[in-house]
Amino acid sequence: MQKIKFTIITLFPEAVKPYLDSSMLYKAQDRGILTVDYVNLRDFGLGPHKSVDDTPYGGGDGMLLRCEPVFSAIESVKKADPEAKVVLPTPVGVVWNQSLARDFASESSTEKHFVILCPHYEGYDERIMSIVDYPISLGNYVLTGGELPALIVIDSVTRLLPGVLGGETSAQIESFSDGDNLEFPQYTKPAEFRGMAVPEVLLSGHHGKIAEWRAEQSRLRSEARRNSSTA
Ligand code: ADE
Repeated sequence: MQKIKFTIITLFPEAVKPYLDSSMLYKAQDRGILTVDYVNLRDFGLGPHKSVDDTPYGGGDGMLLRCEPVFSAIESVKKADPEAKVVLPTPVGVVWNQSLARDFASESSTEKHFVILCPHYEGYDERIMSIVDYPISLGNYVLTGGELPALIVIDSVTRLLPGVLGGETSAQIESFSDGDNLEFPQYTKPAEFRGMAVPEVLLSGHHGKIAEWRAEQSRLRSEARRNSSTA
């Protein structure tokens, strides 16, 4: 069975845990496909106040994550698993997409282990980059911390593992919907709602025609996305 493990290094485990313990990600954990460990960065803080941040050299607003607590936290995880890869959510990272999610998900039967370091405050000491394998950005906007990106990475990777979504249909739809190639529109009952009818072909029972219609819709949507200025 293909398995994946994420260790989340964060100051706010309570912000991420409820999401991961719900719905499909809960099921993935229950089925032994996904394992999530939490490391509280505060436990590696300095001094009596367990401080993890400080002001920037050269001046400027805000506080930066210091190297010592971050290195100690990552080293403590790597001591148990030297193969673990470190992911850093940062606006200067490589933009996360479906192909990266697939890369993270695809790997033999051995359990893959990613450590997601969630920065907070204004940023982090640049020397932290020296222990990062994958700096990733969610896009061209700035968040208050790495917790939401961590959830998005875990969600988008875990759903690709066999046994998480279940059913051939999900895998089939997935082949259409890879980020660049968008999924076709779908409908459920009733066949007509407030004057809006489900496309006739979907009610025809003709599998060949349905497949053709879906492929065409998927192509049209993808083309429209590529041509739109917000893509
Ligand atoms: N941290 C702050 N903003 C971010 C973004 N856009 N992507 C990833 N991590 C971030």
